Amino acid sequence: MNLLSRLPAPVRRTVHGVVGVALVAALASCGNQDTYPLTTLSPKGQQADTIHTLVKPIFIIAGVVFVVVQVVIVVIVIKFRRRRGEEHGENDPVQIHGNTPLELTWTALPAILLAGLAVLNVQTIFKLEQRVPDAIHVDVYGQQWWWEYRYDLDSDGQPDIITANQMVVPAGRQVELNIRSRDVIHSFWIPALNGKMDASPGSTHFMAINANKPGIYEGQCTEFCGLSHGYMRMEVKALTPADYDQWVTDQTASPAEPGNKLAEEGRTAFLSQCAYCHQVNGLTAEGEYSDAGPVADYKGLDGKAVPTVRPGVAPNLTHLMSRERFSGNMFPLHYEDGKPDEGNLKDWLTDPKAMKPMMPDNQQGMPNLNLDPATIDALVAYLVTLN
Ligand code: CUA
Repeated sequence: MNLLSRLPAPVRRTVHGVVGVALVAALASCGNQDTYPLTTLSPKGQQADTIHTLVKPIFIIAGVVFVVVQVVIVVIVIKFRRRRGEEHGENDPVQIHGNTPLELTWTALPAILLAGLAVLNVQTIFKLEQRVPDAIHVDVYGQQWWWEYRYDLDSDGQPDIITANQMVVPAGRQVELNIRSRDVIHSFWIPALNGKMDASPGSTHFMAINANKPGIYEGQCTEFCGLSHGYMRMEVKALTPADYDQWVTDQTASPAEPGNKLAEEGRTAFLSQCAYCHQVNGLTAEGEYSDAGPVADYKGLDGKAVPTVRPGVAPNLTHLMSRERFSGNMFPLHYEDGKPDEGNLKDWLTDPKAMKPMMPDNQQGMPNLNLDPATIDALVAYLVTLN
């Protein structure tokens, strides 16, 4: 990535556009944390274990049925084939049409088998639906083309932490998700932790996860949701309980003050250019979710009126740099040594559509605001202070 950042911006953007997915895959594999890729066959959480426990007997039973059926077919084909010189029908087997005991047998056997599997299936479904008293509750919103997570830590119905794309959880503790959508049908899927769950507009779907140990658990939207469906990734980052408590403390803190003049200019530019869609806690007020636009006047830190954002229109950026990646978990925010990847943010602000296919005119994705390079530099200087 360091090499990439030294390339001219247009070349970098082309590289991003063409090999974005490959880049993410490569980067995901070279982080210093354990990363669990997209496979259902290697469960790393309680719910995924429950599913895997069901998959094993079903696979074995289906395998036995498959082998028996195939062997019988081969034996019959060989035994009753028409041999050279035989008249048609000369070697036909005895016809058994209307044989009641036989027909009862091959109706009853599969019925009993399927009834047995249904019991196991229903048991598993109830097990996956189990809620626990000390669970953490997160509202998950799918949106073209990113995921929002709203943590209600004190169960008062109001979100205490709003973050995007990367969900942070404590390892070994149940996290209960209410999955919803703000536009079309998406599907939330972290295969190492649980199965798929659709995010459908107008309804809420329950799913629980419980990661065995700290690490990064990768996911991908698995319901076709338009242009950038393939660019709608997500991940769960599981921390030790102590690290998670620290994360909660950091996330509920006020955003950092811009430490230098350029970042301060960036904050001013943020308020005039970005704040109708993106929220920074304390700097912009969260209005009601509505398609009608900003809903009320709000006084910012400096006492001046600032826009009221429509929550959920775009990711909350209060602690942007605490995440690994941005824009549907696609583009790294840091180099491997932990320094901010300003090049990626600059490219994004210069021409977001060059990095990810979007239709901002149709309220799908980030518009190109045609910002001048000086404003982009200031904005990036501000964004990297949001840690
Ligand atoms: Cu969201 Cu596919």
